[in-house]
Amino acid sequence: MTTDSFDFTDSNQQVQVVSGNKSMTFSVIKPEIVQVFQDYGKSTHSYAVEGDKTIDTKYAVSKDGDVITIKTDALMVKVDPQLHVDVYDADNHPLVVHYNGQRESINQNIDAAHKKIVRSEGHEVAAIDEASDTYYEVLNQLDDDEQFYGLGGKTGFLNKRGYEYDNWNTDEPRPHIESFTHLYKSIPILFGIKQGHPYGLFFDNTYRSHFDLGKESSKYYVYSADDGNLNYYILGGATLKDVVADYTYLTGVVPLPQRWMLGYQQSRWGYSMDQSRVEEIVDKFEQYHLPLEAVHFDIDYMKGYRVFTWDTDKFADPKAFLMSLRKRGVRVIPILDPGVKQDDDYDIYQEGLKKGYFAKNKDGSVYINRVWPGKSAFPDFGNPDVRKWWGKHCKFLLDNGAAGIWTDMNEPATFDGDMPDDVVMTDEDQPSTAKMMHNVYGHNMAKATYNGIKDATGKRPYVITRAAYAGTQKYSTVWTGDNQSLWHHLQMSIPQLCNLGMSGFSYAGTDIGGFSADTTPELLTRWVEAALFSPLFRNHSALQVRNQEPWVFGKQVLDIYRKFLHLRYRFIPYLYDCFHNETQDGLPVMRALVLNYPDDKTVRNMNDEYMVGDNVLVAPIVQQGQTARAVYLPKGQWIALDTGVEYTGETTILANVPIDKLPIFIKKNTLLPWGQEVEHISDQPDKTMTFRLFGDAATYTHYQDDGVDFNYQNGEYNEYAVSVDAAGNCQVKLNHHGYDGQYQTVKVQLNDRLVTFKYDDQSAAYVLAD
Ligand code: GLC
Repeated sequence: MTTDSFDFTDSNQQVQVVSGNKSMTFSVIKPEIVQVFQDYGKSTHSYAVEGDKTIDTKYAVSKDGDVITIKTDALMVKVDPQLHVDVYDADNHPLVVHYNGQRESINQNIDAAHKKIVRSEGHEVAAIDEASDTYYEVLNQLDDDEQFYGLGGKTGFLNKRGYEYDNWNTDEPRPHIESFTHLYKSIPILFGIKQGHPYGLFFDNTYRSHFDLGKESSKYYVYSADDGNLNYYILGGATLKDVVADYTYLTGVVPLPQRWMLGYQQSRWGYSMDQSRVEEIVDKFEQYHLPLEAVHFDIDYMKGYRVFTWDTDKFADPKAFLMSLRKRGVRVIPILDPGVKQDDDYDIYQEGLKKGYFAKNKDGSVYINRVWPGKSAFPDFGNPDVRKWWGKHCKFLLDNGAAGIWTDMNEPATFDGDMPDDVVMTDEDQPSTAKMMHNVYGHNMAKATYNGIKDATGKRPYVITRAAYAGTQKYSTVWTGDNQSLWHHLQMSIPQLCNLGMSGFSYAGTDIGGFSADTTPELLTRWVEAALFSPLFRNHSALQVRNQEPWVFGKQVLDIYRKFLHLRYRFIPYLYDCFHNETQDGLPVMRALVLNYPDDKTVRNMNDEYMVGDNVLVAPIVQQGQTARAVYLPKGQWIALDTGVEYTGETTILANVPIDKLPIFIKKNTLLPWGQEVEHISDQPDKTMTFRLFGDAATYTHYQDDGVDFNYQNGEYNEYAVSVDAAGNCQVKLNHHGYDGQYQTVKVQLNDRLVTFKYDDQSAAYVLAD
């Protein structure tokens, strides 16, 4: 190819590079984000990126021989006549460099006959490569010093280098292990640190896709897709935090949750078979003085698993019952699965059928597969009318007193084999197929549910979803699905939640204690400790496994469990502040250490410690039988929460961790809001707030609003600037933006004394109390 047929056009931040009969479009979204697009004639609707994110940006395009360069203040993107793309940061460090060599397929020397033999014993063997017409791949050089993060809640370790992953939402009942390539969620965001320089690649394509991050070869990594347009965003920035913030800028942040959503929640498949069982659970929480915000109702509350029904043989008057619990401070979160029972006497099925709202076979008949209700139809959630219909029906649950909705089985799970790729679905206003819509099925169900709750209540909706795609964080919290009561699942929960956090899902959790298999007293105890700052804080278990409520293992476990629930409540105002910060800076609440300390090589694959915001470090025990552990403390001075002992960082210490201890370290010179040990989080404004000083001097900005509705978006919130100087002088400044629930009393706990301020109505300020 000659350079004559290689040129570009440039208009309105869109640079079209044409080479022969091929072209590629580069859209400058902002200095740190450039979108790369090659049209393969597929849908251009994005489920992840809503609205136009383009900001007026200075950039330059030039052609020098065989290279066209697009340069912003943060990125330099170079394109050659083969339309290969190389990316450098503002200081010319390579971030993404196309790999020109051949692939070195691991399987290339194994012929089909041998694969058959290996398979006959039940071993998994990679499919014999039969690339389809629509298949494409992107190959980039892999540096010896290159690490990978993100990809949502994949199994395995924090650093994804050396592994391969698929993006295909899948319900996987077998114990999740590190070699699994895919689970319930597909979040195709890859963060890399190449020779210390961060970048991100977000492949916004809902079709089945694949990452090989150095498994096949240590020379390159691969993104490939079965279908769809080539459509990805290059994300740059000075730090890994900046790159993560670019990603949430594109796909959205987690909206502020209601305050109670950060409290403790209890669940078990089977509770809602029987009203008296639910009552017994709530009674026990009261009796044992254990905080409790919500009980989750699994599929049993429905009539024969029919969605939007309530079995009145089990609950004579659901509304009255839920109200009675609400009066005791406990909310109910019922589950909804997508499968609508095929039953001619069932109004939801009839309505969906009449309106053509279910996914169809190629011949136009309704597609049926089996899930909990038996034979079921699947709402076509990619159709906006179907989402509205579903959302409206959510009102039935809310009118009965539900405080949120748990959406499950929305990969979608199907018991009689996988849903075929050619099942007909809708992509907004266009006909489509499951091949494209499968990975956004759960996303659209969660979005429909979110909007249904918002319309019906005006409150910040609480939705939990199992399946998700990039951007689902705007509508729902997630949990990591059916884990098991296994130590290695407790271990895996930390990298899973940290990678989910980097992938936009700041609000996430695991089933505490483990879902399947039988937990043990020690495992349950260590799990509630390790999950202490897990944003979604829910104990959930399966139908037939050993009970795992806090009291079932006797007094010692109960006392420790209670102690940690109380400690969680101390941190709720801090967690709420972290969520508020996240809405502003797009950074997760629960964090891998590498996010806060990207230059520290020790933390690049740190799987058993995490941070909460910038200043709290947690090092739980995740090994059976262990009562001491090495704790790595990064740069800076650290104060152990329980002993007050100070440590100098960039060192590993040995912590004694008997069963009732959780090592928590606070960065020296930090002020933290210190909540109250309540049994239920109130929707009423707190009258008092306490701040605790760790170290000698610090400043802190605390956020407050009503914790329930959207009035904060109209300015109804307050900010408090709290400071302590080295001489111990404290100040509390109220920045009243319009929320009238300001604290009457603010206390600051110094090392040697408690300073109390009272709100003075006349001056609208805090003054020292006598
Ligand atoms: C799925 C969910 C699990 C739930 C069960 C029954 O396995 O992941 O949380 O308890 O279905 O509804």
